[in-house]
Amino acid sequence: MSIRNKLIILILALLTAISAVTGLLFLHSEWASISSNSQRKNLQILLAMTEVCKETHGSSKNSPAYKYFKTFLKTPEILSVSCTDSAGRVFMSDRYAKPSPSLFQLPVFLKAFSPPITGVWQVQQDTGAKILKATLSVVSNKGRQVTAHVDFSMQLMYQEMDSSLHQSSAGFFIILSLAFAIGCIGTLIITRVIAGPMQTMAEGARMIGSGRLDHRIPVTSRDEMGMLAAEFNEMADKLKEFDDMKRDFISSITHDLRSPVTGIELCSDIIKELLQKHEHGRIPEQLFSINEHSQRLNRFIDSLLEVSKIESGKLELDIKPVNLEELSDRAVRSLRPYAEQKNLKVELIVGEEIPETRGDPDRLYQVLSNIIGNAVKFTNSGSVCVFLETAPGWQKVRVLDTGVGIPQHEIKNLFSKFYRINSGRHGHPAARQGTGLGLYIAKFIVEQHGGRIEVDSVQGKGSTFTIFLPAL
Ligand SMILES: Nc1ncnc2c1ncn2[C@@H]1O[C@H](COP(=O)(O)OP(=O)(O)O)[C@@H](O)[C@H]1O
Ligand SMILES: [Mg+2]
Repeated sequence: MSIRNKLIILILALLTAISAVTGLLFLHSEWASISSNSQRKNLQILLAMTEVCKETHGSSKNSPAYKYFKTFLKTPEILSVSCTDSAGRVFMSDRYAKPSPSLFQLPVFLKAFSPPITGVWQVQQDTGAKILKATLSVVSNKGRQVTAHVDFSMQLMYQEMDSSLHQSSAGFFIILSLAFAIGCIGTLIITRVIAGPMQTMAEGARMIGSGRLDHRIPVTSRDEMGMLAAEFNEMADKLKEFDDMKRDFISSITHDLRSPVTGIELCSDIIKELLQKHEHGRIPEQLFSINEHSQRLNRFIDSLLEVSKIESGKLELDIKPVNLEELSDRAVRSLRPYAEQKNLKVELIVGEEIPETRGDPDRLYQVLSNIIGNAVKFTNSGSVCVFLETAPGWQKVRVLDTGVGIPQHEIKNLFSKFYRINSGRHGHPAARQGTGLGLYIAKFIVEQHGGRIEVDSVQGKGSTFTIFLPAL
């Protein structure tokens, strides 16, 4: 996972945690204040009720205090209100306020309450409804003890408290959501500011690693990231310097080696001819060895010179009409003797007619010889098939072998300079003899033609190299 994504997840997790804790704390404190408000309100109602009880005790039923009963009952949470005297007899009840009291509501039938208690307690009715009963005893205007009773519906009380919590928290949660959204936008900006330069740096390192030593990172700030970019560029400068030195060194050495090696090859040819004339064909083995080694050295020098041309931008293509079928056929035929020595079959299979295209025939021939040559070189038994095909916009040369194959993790390195797989003492003998420059040069030439090379391989089973060249 990229650093940017990690940062985003971390900050968002933090924001969520902070929002959740803030929300919970808010709900907790809001609920505490709402419930204390509700208690205060209930107490006020109870106090007001005691005042009514005090006034109505001993006075006629039409006392103006009755009208308060109606007012009390307008509050939805209040289920009933009543006053009792010191003997527990109900002398006032909300039912009295009704216009025509029924027989059962006459004082004779009224249930005697247990002695008055001052306090608050909960009662659960048979229906399951919970009631909060509040009572308060005071001394009436007539000097007698009276008790006010108020029954609250707990369900309605909680409903009321819930709705006030909803009202007060709606605003809070809108603000919290806004803050969260701003936090998210801020996170994106922060991560971009922090991770952006890191990504540029990683991209730069990848470019340098892939051989583009002239790549530099823009220094846009004076902070640690800016310093790192400057250091990185300095390192790239040094690498480029060393690379140029190495290239010049190789190029001059190769030029210097070329004439003596060609001289040795020529001399060995001349000696061979002389011996054939004078010694009746008896030529010492060593002479063949000298000849073969000097030829290999010459090929190596050619490749090195080609690489130095590529790197100094001097490898130019001579573009003209080319016939891929003819080039492939030539490459296959030239490699056939070598393949036959190894008991391998090399075949060219042309599925459909391949139209002429444009390119540098010599360079394309070089590419085909190297890729088909590699297929023959790294195949011990089986066959090598070269397919000529077309795809929309492309002409394809697919070289399929039943050889040693290439480990998956090595495929990305194949086209690097001097790269050979298993070229160690115990590796493939053909890899030990190679230079590791063939595919580097082939890739460059194909890309100069606007094409690409794809590799597909299964270790131990074989490989497929496909050259894509743009169709005309
Ligand atoms: N068809 C193939 N099968 C297996 N390995 C291959 C094949 N083609 C190339 N390779 C591997 O890629 C390496 C690089 O190839 P190349 O650049 O042509 O260099 P060279 O042929 O000089 O060794 C070879 O050394 C070999 O390990
Ligand atoms: Mg090769």
